[in-house]
Amino acid sequence: MNNSLLPVTSLDDLRIARAALDEPVGFVPTMGYLHAGHLSLVERARRECASVVVSIFVNPTQFAPTDDLDAYPRDLERDTRLLEEAGADLLWTPTPEVMYPPGFQTWVEVETLTRPLEGARRPGHFRGVTTVVTKLFNGVQPQRAYFGQKDAQQAAVIRRMVRDLNMPVEIVVCPIVRERDGLAMSSRNTYLDPDERQAATVLYRSLSAAKSAYEEGERNADTLRGIVAEIVNAEPLAKLQYVSCADYDTLEELKTVTGKTLLSMAVHIGTTRLIDNFVLE
Ligand code: PAJ
Repeated sequence: MNNSLLPVTSLDDLRIARAALDEPVGFVPTMGYLHAGHLSLVERARRECASVVVSIFVNPTQFAPTDDLDAYPRDLERDTRLLEEAGADLLWTPTPEVMYPPGFQTWVEVETLTRPLEGARRPGHFRGVTTVVTKLFNGVQPQRAYFGQKDAQQAAVIRRMVRDLNMPVEIVVCPIVRERDGLAMSSRNTYLDPDERQAATVLYRSLSAAKSAYEEGERNADTLRGIVAEIVNAEPLAKLQYVSCADYDTLEELKTVTGKTLLSMAVHIGTTRLIDNFVLE
């Protein structure tokens, strides 16, 4: 375990530190303010790779102008300590100037897969994600990269991008880490006041109800979406933005559940937007 994790910022310092690492290198890209969900990715990489690199960069291009970029929580000191404890070997904290030099004009865009769900509600979001992840991969040059199922569409889009562009990195998607009452861990949970925090359990409760129906044999996608919607609509502090029952790989909406399926949703609790999903297989 490395007990003196010093963040590197410039590309030159990153390259020097990266060259000294044992291979295979596992990489966990994050926006910081780390919780047990992020750390589960670091721990998995620790188990599977000789070295572990983590990045922290709150990527401006994946936030809408009206979004919470400035309000996004940050605590580099605490993050560094948690990463030391989790056994990360190298922490890269690029500045916006490193990632977006003056005159920047080159983007990576995945087409069809970014249109529905999160992409439909957050125009430009995935273009920001795929561009920054490409740049992070180019800097770190990992053999494996670890992503959370929490952001299911993001994981699908990254897998597609890596295949389409022949990027020499294996994508590992890890299960959602939840609080004891089922709420998926997220940096945005810190925005919730106590009443909203209580109401936020409606995502897990509604997905669980739909999953139980599925396990009892329900295969009609509208019925499964309806179970989720009904439970969310019964929660006064929650406003359902979408519920989707879609093919796991293509994200196309289904009439009938047959193969591996993504049941996903977005809800506003007050001004906070939360997402969650279950995989039905
Ligand atoms: P961020 O939201 O910080 O998440 C970093 C990684 O942690 C993502 O792969 C996300 O899916 C995973 N993660 C978040 N909450 C989780 C949970 N409860 N359980 C398991 N994994 C969880 O996702 C991003 O940052 C950015 O878009 C990024 C990929 C870094 C590009 O800027």
